[in-house]
Amino acid sequence: MYIEKISLLNFKNYPELELSFSEHINLFVGLNGSGKTNLLDAIYCLCLTKSFLAFTDQQMITTNQAYFSALGWFHEKSKEFKIQYDFDGKKKSFTVDKKPYTRISEHIGKFPAIVLTPHDTDLIRNGAEDRRRFFDTLFSQADHVYLEALIRYTHFIKQRNALLKQASEGVLIDRILMDAYDHNLLQSGAIIASKRNEYLNRLLPIFQEYYTLLSPDHERTTIEYETKVLAPDFEKTFKDSYSKDLILQRTNKGIHKDDFKFIINGEAVKQYGSQGQQKTFVIALKLAQYELLKACTGHTPILLMDDIFDKLDDQRIEKLISLVQKYVKGQLFISDARPDRSGTFFQSNTKEFRMFIIDQGKVKQSDIRF
Ligand SMILES: Nc1ncnc2c1ncn2[C@@H]1O[C@H](COP(=O)(O)OP(=O)(O)OP(=O)(O)O)[C@@H](O)[C@H]1O
Ligand SMILES: [Mg+2]
Repeated sequence: MYIEKISLLNFKNYPELELSFSEHINLFVGLNGSGKTNLLDAIYCLCLTKSFLAFTDQQMITTNQAYFSALGWFHEKSKEFKIQYDFDGKKKSFTVDKKPYTRISEHIGKFPAIVLTPHDTDLIRNGAEDRRRFFDTLFSQADHVYLEALIRYTHFIKQRNALLKQASEGVLIDRILMDAYDHNLLQSGAIIASKRNEYLNRLLPIFQEYYTLLSPDHERTTIEYETKVLAPDFEKTFKDSYSKDLILQRTNKGIHKDDFKFIINGEAVKQYGSQGQQKTFVIALKLAQYELLKACTGHTPILLMDDIFDKLDDQRIEKLISLVQKYVKGQLFISDARPDRSGTFFQSNTKEFRMFIIDQGKVKQSDIRF
């Protein structure tokens, strides 16, 4: 799968832009703040229906404008698809070939994309919520049953917590309603937990292989899925927590409390890993994500690499580039403020290669050949 062309109107620092890409490697270069990440984000938005930078639709509209429109021409198995994402300040519209979805989430997984960013190591340092979000995004793209269960779970946890809150305000609890919420949470939670377990087990060997290929040392790595939901007596644990739930006005047991432990040589990467090792850990994880998505969706994802050479030593950069060249068969977008570094790595590449020079929201295709 690849994106052939993009057209943007009032998207962040791009008042108006039309660009055609290489089916293979595209390099965006430019100074800090010129708009490299914004362009990667526009592509990501068309694939995943939202920004990877957690911007709201409103924040994506160019300052002092009333709307944005992003349009991408995608190719998949010799068919063309026109994906359009518009926001007019109130309403979001997301269409493929002008047809809207019943629910926008139906788009997820059809045009998979993966982004590597300098913030990826936050995944290690931040709380469990960020790790759950990462794996949720991955497994949702890989499997619609997972996504549906997650949407249901998120809906019912909100409803249940609202009911618990009402109880604390003196409203008599509707037990039938509460039982219905419990039933739905237990059911969708069990699907999510068993799929988290299943997909992590598929991801793990790929991740470990990539880590070994990327690291000149021989650290042992693993990821452990921590959940109480798969325990045989979880239903009892969940029900037993009811009085605590009432006091705290929220649901205390369930997959929204799960975590994924990142481990290097038997220790938590967060405490034990150096900056370079942490970075290598998340890059290996993202590349494993690429492989898993390719296998599960049958589509080759688009890989977006934003400024990723930062904090890696030359040896690791070289290993990363050769790994990407070897394993990434699909379309690739790379942004780098230092073209001397990324450009030279593609010198020997025989694939079609395009470089774009970005300057304050203006983009020029460069004639420079490395
Ligand atoms: N809604 C918006 N309207 C106008 N400009 C915006 C909007 N949102 C972000 N920008 C501008 O986009 C620019 C940042 O672009 P971006 O993050 O893509 O830069 P970059 O080339 O990736 O820089 P770096 O090398 O530092 O990562 C900033 O100058 C910011 O002011
Ligand atoms: Mg950037």
